[in-house]
Amino acid sequence: MTERTSQEVVGLSDGVSIPLIGFGTWQLDGDDAYKGVRAALEIGYRHIDTATAYRNEDKVGAAIRDSGVGRENVFITTKCPPGNAGREAETLDASLKDLGVDFVDLWLVHWPPNGEARPDTWKAFIEALEQGKTRAIGVSNYSIAQIDELVAATGRAPALNQIPWNPFAFDEREVAELQSRHVVLEGYSPLKRSDLSNLVLADIAAAHGKTAAQVILRWHVEHGFVVIPRSQNRERIEENFDIFDFQLAPEELRRLDALGA
Ligand SMILES: NC(=O)c1ccc[n+]([C@@H]2O[C@H](COP(=O)([O-])OP(=O)(O)OC[C@H]3O[C@@H](n4cnc5c(N)ncnc54)[C@H](OP(=O)(O)O)[C@@H]3O)[C@@H](O)[C@H]2O)c1
Repeated sequence: MTERTSQEVVGLSDGVSIPLIGFGTWQLDGDDAYKGVRAALEIGYRHIDTATAYRNEDKVGAAIRDSGVGRENVFITTKCPPGNAGREAETLDASLKDLGVDFVDLWLVHWPPNGEARPDTWKAFIEALEQGKTRAIGVSNYSIAQIDELVAATGRAPALNQIPWNPFAFDEREVAELQSRHVVLEGYSPLKRSDLSNLVLADIAAAHGKTAAQVILRWHVEHGFVVIPRSQNRERIEENFDIFDFQLAPEELRRLDALGA
């Protein structure tokens, strides 16, 4: 058995490394956000995903501070709501204040504002990066064409695109398009949008003595996709992180990829 580790990371074009598995906090409010993040950090997660829109940045920040895990050892992502386009700088300042940190590790445009790429918003993101308020910048829910629009306007590609992703949504072309632009793929809703009772998943899970959820998360890690499962149940937070002691065979990866066909 290989040693369990939380240190599997992927490099971003901005020169920082992001842990491949993070803890998602959407719909974790108040105490649930605090308890969830405390549990995740205790278990070994070193990457937390939040957003202005989740209204839990204060609880996430408190949990990180109280955890005793140094700020420098936790990768924090937050996101700017599309409705705040034009007010980017004050939005990030509010996130930093609520989180109680001097900088975040990754700041994302949560959705294309009004369905548009908005290069002006992206310019404000580049400024925040240059000011050291965030270590990397990216987008979420952007199409390839919208990413190209940002690059055409500024010469700078987002380091990462956070999109809905799982084996059932696997799209080789999307992967190749992002890779060719050096944009890391981060998947969200990996479990919620998957059929956990699928027979291929069950078969592979049984072969490794793992659950279907663990197979899905391991599939992300082996592809180099960042993944951010969320749970408010301590056992499942633990289960979702317990994926570093097994490996999928090439044939198993192919079978999982084929679920997206
Ligand atoms: N950028 C965006 O637009 C966007 C959109 C959606 C999500 N996100 C981010 O991505 C994160 C993850 O996505 P998500 O929260 O939508 O969904 P998810 O992580 O795919 O699924 C969460 C659901 O799955 C259950 N679950 C967790 N672990 C499980 C396991 N091992 N077995 C069975 N069920 C399990 C949870 O229930 P319990 O709590 O009861 O365990 C919860 O109902 C979010 O929290 C957020 O940080 C970003």
